[in-house]
Amino acid sequence: MDSIVITGNGPLNGVIPIAGAKNACLTLMPATLLTDQPLTLTNAPRLSDIRTMSQLLGSLGAEVASLQDGKVLALSSHDLTSHRADYEIVRKMRASILVLGPLLARYGHAVVSLPGGCAIGARPVDLHLRALEAMGAQLDLREGYVHATAPGGLRGARFRFPLVSVGATENALMAATLAKGTTILENAAREPEIVDLARCLMRMGAQIEGAGTSTLTIEGVSSLSGATHAVVTDRIELGTYMLAPAIAGGEVECLGGRLDLVQAFVDKLEQAGVEVVETSRGLKVSRKTDRLRAVNVDTEPFPGFPTDLQAQFMAAMCAAEGESVLQEHIFENRFMHAPELMRMGARIDVHGGTARVTGVDQLRGAPVMATDLRASVSLILAGLAARGDTVVSRVYHLDRGYEHVEQKLGACGARIERITGS
Ligand code: EPZ
Repeated sequence: MDSIVITGNGPLNGVIPIAGAKNACLTLMPATLLTDQPLTLTNAPRLSDIRTMSQLLGSLGAEVASLQDGKVLALSSHDLTSHRADYEIVRKMRASILVLGPLLARYGHAVVSLPGGCAIGARPVDLHLRALEAMGAQLDLREGYVHATAPGGLRGARFRFPLVSVGATENALMAATLAKGTTILENAAREPEIVDLARCLMRMGAQIEGAGTSTLTIEGVSSLSGATHAVVTDRIELGTYMLAPAIAGGEVECLGGRLDLVQAFVDKLEQAGVEVVETSRGLKVSRKTDRLRAVNVDTEPFPGFPTDLQAQFMAAMCAAEGESVLQEHIFENRFMHAPELMRMGARIDVHGGTARVTGVDQLRGAPVMATDLRASVSLILAGLAARGDTVVSRVYHLDRGYEHVEQKLGACGARIERITGS
């Protein structure tokens, strides 16, 4: 397993290109199952999760060609050979559940493994299933698999999500595009990745209103065509790299960055003493104070502060002036980066969904272990400001969501290198 070594090396200066959004691409790819026409995705990120989704779609008989060094994905599900998503693939990546809605909508039949939990929580999929049942799906849970059928096809329905779920909204939205009649999804997720999916589906001929609001209205159509769609910028990669100059000092321009994707996050950055300026190419970020100021954060569904940036923001607060309180409202176990940050000298007191961080003058490099995707990058960010070497092990977590992290940070002056492990 590879490790990454970071040696605190002072302020960063340079530009970092931001890739297409992993979490948009992971829902756009299964949309190919909704049509027998080709779907082309451009600005695709080069990540192991994308390769896993390609593998899953391939196991169903879909074709996924990776072109232009992985930045373009040419997908086609003209002749599927299977409607079964096996546990072996699904357990590696929970987003695999997103093939359920499209398979059911187009073929009236799907057998999809339940994803199981992961490091940050139990991650149930009950809301995915309830939304599809509301549209007439018959579901039978057997041996860890969902056996789903919709004999006469799915039918439009009004369904209110009891809590905001990104994945359940995506599954229901895709299924509703081919359901007979009108579907109204209330308390739907508003994330930019949902808006991006809706835009792509509309290019394919779907009739959708309300994308980006909490009520989606979908008029089912008999079939969808192919399309070419550019994956939206990754707001979580963007926020992650905006924190690099915030933590280490200096000035970094994030190419492709859009303020509307990260407004709540930027509000907190600015409260902490960071300047964010929109440029013609993206967002330029610099720290205007010798030391960040402590800021409190509550994670919420979009447009609130994203849970996927909580670990990274905590890393920034570890060396800030004062005490910050971070409340994690989305997942039940998303502070696993805290004990690792404490190995670097951070002072963090975790009780349930609340973490109190008391800023220290100087973090110290240490061997630390990645536990999940966003926790792993928070350790790298902390290493940028730590005295000495920080060795982050199990970086396969990192490779799921960040392409070429050592190159992107190294190009701005960070001392960072990957040690290829056994
Ligand atoms: C998506 O996960 C993202 N993953 C996550 O990013 C992100 O943290 C999350 O949305 C929240 O923004 C992808 O898009 C592939 P949810 P998802 O359904 O859809 C509960 C990353 O680091 N819930 O919005 O699984 C759930 O347990 C990943 O890139 C149910 O109870 O998240 C959680 O507490 C991590 N029943 C809350 O809802 C359900 O059926 C929000 O989960 C579904 C969810």
